[in-house]
Amino acid sequence: MADSATIALLDWYDRHHRDLPWRVTPADRAAGRRADPYHVWLSEIMLQQTTVRAVKPYFRSFLQQWPDITALAAVPVDDVMKAWAGLGYYSRARNLKKCADIVANEHKGRFPNTENALKALPGIGDYTAAAIAAIAFDRHAAVVDGNVERVLSRLHCLDAPVSTIKPRLRDLMAELTPGNRPGDFAQAMMDLGATICTSKRPACSLCPINADCRAFRSADPERYPVKPAKKPKPVRRGAAYVAVAPDGAILLRRRQEKGLLAGMSEVPTTGWTARQDGASGPDAAPFRANWTDSGSIVHVFTHFELRLDVYRADVASRRPMDGGWWTLERDLSSEALPTVMKKAISAAVATAFKRPSSSGDKPN
Ligand code: ADE
Repeated sequence: MADSATIALLDWYDRHHRDLPWRVTPADRAAGRRADPYHVWLSEIMLQQTTVRAVKPYFRSFLQQWPDITALAAVPVDDVMKAWAGLGYYSRARNLKKCADIVANEHKGRFPNTENALKALPGIGDYTAAAIAAIAFDRHAAVVDGNVERVLSRLHCLDAPVSTIKPRLRDLMAELTPGNRPGDFAQAMMDLGATICTSKRPACSLCPINADCRAFRSADPERYPVKPAKKPKPVRRGAAYVAVAPDGAILLRRRQEKGLLAGMSEVPTTGWTARQDGASGPDAAPFRANWTDSGSIVHVFTHFELRLDVYRADVASRRPMDGGWWTLERDLSSEALPTVMKKAISAAVATAFKRPSSSGDKPN
């Protein structure tokens, strides 16, 4: 890309950048405001695999509760998990808290300002280190996220799926990134990818760098990035048991500290297995009750699709369960409930209320 295109892209960004709550705009900067590394870090961790739209309310709520890294480091990890619930990828929230603790305690509350030092912190990989270095500290760093990959693939008509050419994409971005305003340039590429150079129906005629784009000159810009051959996701199955007390409270428990959704809250479930022979009916419930079929829900994780049969039992009292607790429906929003569990509870709550049977609610 010629220098003139870099300038055209930065000019476009000055006029058309998205207003994002973590962003210091070029006009703000001219008025002396600097990007806050805490805001940049928090937004980048939240934005890993999640949309800008989904992140905005979480970002605002985190800042309201914990206005700086010292405040975040001072609270128990469970509070952070609860505030994170719904954003997915819960190991990110654990690493977020570990990172806050290290920055607060070992770096006097200040983020390190080089890519390498940032990468040494929990939860900060190549992309995030480059993004923080460029956006918060104006370092020359190659920031390559999914939007940038798409823009680069089109600019150069790259003929391979992006997952197979990561080093090349990094090199191309490093070459393109100017010494002046590298953070704005990275964000300009991201905004271009999000608003103009979109996956479907890109608005090429509005693109400030279309003169330099090989895909624009080709018959079919949408062909890029080249799609990898699609493998179907494996399916796992299981059952979820939603016990409802007379006051509407729901029985929850905590997931194990390791593995998927570690330490989050859940309704009791069976194991999630790829085999079809696993017990996943009423007999596999944590205790005997009048379990009724509430249909099933599907949730897609990164590496598999989960189909859970949901059973509901209206029990006569808040029976105790080892490691379990009861939470009123109106208080569920303050539990660290992952989306898959919210889906299971919604399916059960939607089921018509059935009175507990006299034989119900007996321990197995
Ligand atoms: N996606 C991830 N980080 C972003 C940022 N800083 N600006 C716009 N989109 C983003």
